[in-house]
Amino acid sequence: AANADNADLKALIRTIPDFPKPGIQFRDVTTLLLDRCGFSSCVGRMAAAAPGPVDLVAGVEARGFLFAGALADRLNAGVLLIRKDGKLPGATIAEDYALEYGQDRIAMHADACAPDARVLLVDDLIATGGTARAAVRLLRKAGARVVQAQFLVDLPELGGADALRKDGVDVHALVAFE
Ligand code: PRP
Ligand code: ADE
Repeated sequence: AANADNADLKALIRTIPDFPKPGIQFRDVTTLLLDRCGFSSCVGRMAAAAPGPVDLVAGVEARGFLFAGALADRLNAGVLLIRKDGKLPGATIAEDYALEYGQDRIAMHADACAPDARVLLVDDLIATGGTARAAVRLLRKAGARVVQAQFLVDLPELGGADALRKDGVDVHALVAFE
């Protein structure tokens, strides 16, 4: 049975103060992942919010992979891995981005999606939006149509979801922490 509502999902997410740096309230989804009803409900709600058929679900390393795999299975779609640079064996395209607490570079295989493929981007959380916006730039560079971006958690005060909407993306999140 999997019928946790969004308030139940929020209650399953643990907050760790001052990780990985002083002043960051880290929203830890590992506690939700441990809960079979919580994880199943989360993926079910994401699948229900999807905008019609999708060819691929793109997940961002590392926590995004968990949601991408489960969601792709429910949506009868393939999984497209967006990894930290240097991990993928084939020819890649890459994008740099700033994090709430650092700097990083993500990459995908240059031939991972057909032109105009309908791609749903998923990650556990959107904060500043740096990661998700870089992922969208990457997918668009590869010729994909990013039909939606979904997140378990939105931190609206950091403005990432709004910035992503201004980039022309349909953004959906299950829970928000102010
Ligand atoms: C976290 C999270 C998102 C990103 C969100 O990943 O899983 O990918 O930060 O932050 P942003 O909106 O400010 O870009 P992290 O970089 O900590 O990597 P991990 O999943 O490998 O731990
Ligand atoms: N990624 C960026 N900011 C985060 C936060 N506050 N909690 C968890 N993951 C994050």
